[in-house]
Amino acid sequence: MPEPTPSNRSSILLEASCLSKHYGSQRVLEAVDLKLAKGDRVALMGPSGAGKSTLLNCLGGIETIDAGKLFFEGQPLHAMNEDAIAQLRRQRIGTVFQFFHLLPTLNAAENIALPLRLNGIGPAECRERVQSLLREVGLGERANSFPETLSGGEMQRVAIARALAAEPALLLADEPTGNLDSKTGESILDLIERLCDRQRTALVMVTHAESSTRICHRVIHLHDGRVMNKMTAL
Ligand SMILES: Nc1ncnc2c1ncn2[C@@H]1O[C@H](COP(=O)(O)OP(=O)(O)OP(=O)(O)O)[C@@H](O)[C@H]1O
Ligand SMILES: [Mg+2]
Repeated sequence: MPEPTPSNRSSILLEASCLSKHYGSQRVLEAVDLKLAKGDRVALMGPSGAGKSTLLNCLGGIETIDAGKLFFEGQPLHAMNEDAIAQLRRQRIGTVFQFFHLLPTLNAAENIALPLRLNGIGPAECRERVQSLLREVGLGERANSFPETLSGGEMQRVAIARALAAEPALLLADEPTGNLDSKTGESILDLIERLCDRQRTALVMVTHAESSTRICHRVIHLHDGRVMNKMTAL
């Protein structure tokens, strides 16, 4: 595992305290505490149904929390309105999923350009940044390819480029190698590690594979919505 990043107060990126979440009468997250420093990389593990995806979605503001506090770069996500959260997500948080979630009607370059355009980057700068990102993820020649013509690994490379295009402070990845063969999965992990290192982007990555935790500084175990190793989460 890489050396832990120093986590003094000035470098705190995200601080969650006592997060709780219910779906109906089902308690899915219970008093979760979690601190992330800038550039910190954390793996989230636990059995199916433990609440890993729910926690990831809460940290990224996709899901609301029922109780607790969640500060991102000092801003209280728990108290912000939908528009403010959407703006923060667009600018500061990238997301990668198991099934890539590329837009099928847009080619690789257009998929990657999307967050840049949404953030108001002009067409010329956008084109330049997209080309550089495509090269960075090893797809310099595939700008015009549509998702259906790409392999799983290539689709995930496009998804990673899209997630990191706006240089977010945090990347959330939900089983990013879960739908890939092991060799392709390894290269995707290497790519995530390299890009996060370079941009000093923090990472919270859900994974079922112990071996995938190699790119992370810490592993947090979730069970029935509770963090089992509480000291590691802080
Ligand atoms: N939108 C929803 N509505 C109702 N219940 C939900 C919803 N999303 C998740 N749940 C329930 O919350 C619990 C936790 O789900 P979650 O998807 O967070 O688990 P997970 O740890 O990511 O599991 P897996 O490893 O299978 O992906 C499960 O019991 C699930 O059925
Ligand atoms: Mg899940």
